[in-house]
Amino acid sequence: MAKKKEHSKAGGAREALLSMIKEEQLNSGYVADKAMAEIARTLGLPVSDVYGVATFYSFLSTTPTGKHVIRVCESVPCCLRDAEMIIAQIRGELGIAPGETTSDGRFSLELTNCIGACDQAPAMLVDDEVHGGLTPENIVEILRSYD
Ligand code: FES
Repeated sequence: MAKKKEHSKAGGAREALLSMIKEEQLNSGYVADKAMAEIARTLGLPVSDVYGVATFYSFLSTTPTGKHVIRVCESVPCCLRDAEMIIAQIRGELGIAPGETTSDGRFSLELTNCIGACDQAPAMLVDDEVHGGLTPENIVEILRSYD
């Protein structure tokens, strides 16, 4: 019985873990080491568990990001519709490679797996907004619409 209760307690902490990490990401823009340690302490979990979750999901970041985060889909359907060209266009427009942030802190560029917009491939997210049917021309327009 005591063992079952222990499992239930650990299960509850693990359920709360992703919510707390997401909240930190929303509030701070990323999940810092200090925040991971605090979440681990609060939930009574090892910091390695928190780190494991925070680094597993591509929508979470453990380093500071730009004001807007561009996530270009690099899964097969988007690749087949020339996602590489989209990445090259963004690199040219912003002067950053995937994993980098513009010097003015306006944009970070990341690559991600499918974002559920395969029917609009090639597609990307800017923050939580989906943009599909990307072309070199509309990429520039889309990026300029973000302040
Ligand atoms: S494969 Fe790119 S959105 Fe699904």
